[in-house]
Amino acid sequence: MLYYQSVKGTRDIFPEEVVRWHYVEEVVRRHAFLYGFREIRVPVFEYTDLFQRGIGATTDIVGKEMFSFQPDPQGRSMTLRPEMTAGVMRAALQKNLLSLAPVHKLFYIGELFRKERPQAGRQRQFTQFGAELLGASSPAAVAEVITLMMQVFEALGLKNLKLRINTLGDTDDRLRYREALQSYFAPFHATLDEASKERLEKNPLRILDSKNPAMQELVAGAPKLYDYLKASSLQEFEKVLLYLGERNIAYDIDHRLVRGLDYYCHTAFEVTSAELGAQDAIGGGGRYDALARELGNSADIPAVGFAVGMERLLITMEKQGLFGAIPVKSPLVYLVVQQQELADHAMQLAWQLRQAGVSSEIDLAARSMKAQMREANRMQASFALFIGATEYATGSYALKNLATSEQITLTFDEVLHFLQEHSARQLLD
Ligand code: HAM
Repeated sequence: MLYYQSVKGTRDIFPEEVVRWHYVEEVVRRHAFLYGFREIRVPVFEYTDLFQRGIGATTDIVGKEMFSFQPDPQGRSMTLRPEMTAGVMRAALQKNLLSLAPVHKLFYIGELFRKERPQAGRQRQFTQFGAELLGASSPAAVAEVITLMMQVFEALGLKNLKLRINTLGDTDDRLRYREALQSYFAPFHATLDEASKERLEKNPLRILDSKNPAMQELVAGAPKLYDYLKASSLQEFEKVLLYLGERNIAYDIDHRLVRGLDYYCHTAFEVTSAELGAQDAIGGGGRYDALARELGNSADIPAVGFAVGMERLLITMEKQGLFGAIPVKSPLVYLVVQQQELADHAMQLAWQLRQAGVSSEIDLAARSMKAQMREANRMQASFALFIGATEYATGSYALKNLATSEQITLTFDEVLHFLQEHSARQLLD
């Protein structure tokens, strides 16, 4: 076995698969622009305390999943970003974006790092696309980001997705609920698992999120956050649901949905895919008005966003057979050299073709003509251009359409114009 293997939880993406990524990324970018979101790119690592403050000290991500390092002994600890929202908000605050325009709509596609136990659909390096709407978190803004996410899914042809949605209320609502949960769980303290005991102290809402079946039974009888919401919180949520209904977006209200990051308030949502196993969340998000203040801003900034796991999205698309129609990238012409003495001349012609915008391939390993033809077919080139002694002497070249086997003889200039026109037509298709 090869000594150097990729690290567990990471994977290589080879060209045949990269075309799928490009396809999805293109659909994401097109729809983000349709909704007025512009792309932002933030650093892959940030100071660790940004995530500790932003995501919350009691979350699994901050507790045990961050890849942190300290470049020099006295320096501040840094962390490979485990999510994007904190970095995007940090960037917006640092540049004082909201003083330029009150609402900013940003989207991203980028790599994230979490030290989770790798399994199907769960990696240590993974990719998200997502959108953050800063400066507004009205029900219209919430509905807008959910609609964008669902429209991307629809444009990709995804089926069997389930959108679950909940409201976490405002800080007051949650404080009152927190107390109610603590009183409910207190008599069961001895039966709680270790994780839940810790959560009971620090963040009892997270007990609702427990995957332990023994805990789930207890959770079923717990008070519902819904019953602790004030009227205004409920009205907001209902307005969001109304917008979704008007756009034919199906959803299930799930009062136990709390999400694994601490910055959420009011609406939170998650989308699951029936095609994924245990790790079935394909995307999620919600409102996070207090994040800006948590990061040192003098006041809250209304904000809402979502992120979708690209790998899980691609797995779902693969399982639903949605990749059939993606054309493979192939060269328009393969230059077949009949005698090796003409290789330099052929190379010069390939260069001229490429300069003119015609994608051209040529053998670089001095292989036989038969091998070159095999290669042209393997690459699915549309044409083969033959370069032999006669062609070199007379200046007219045989150009073969590899799909129809039709062959024509042209001067090099004519070949160039003919192929250029083909290229232009391919671009239009
Ligand atoms: P999240 O739920 O932690 O939210 O992640 C969003 C999505 O990223 C998940 O639904 C999943 O598809 C994917 N994902 C997460 N961890 C992994 C992993 N280890 N391997 C593969 N895929 C993974 C957030 O990150 C929030 N920042 C979303 C957000 C944006 N909220 C507001 N704005």
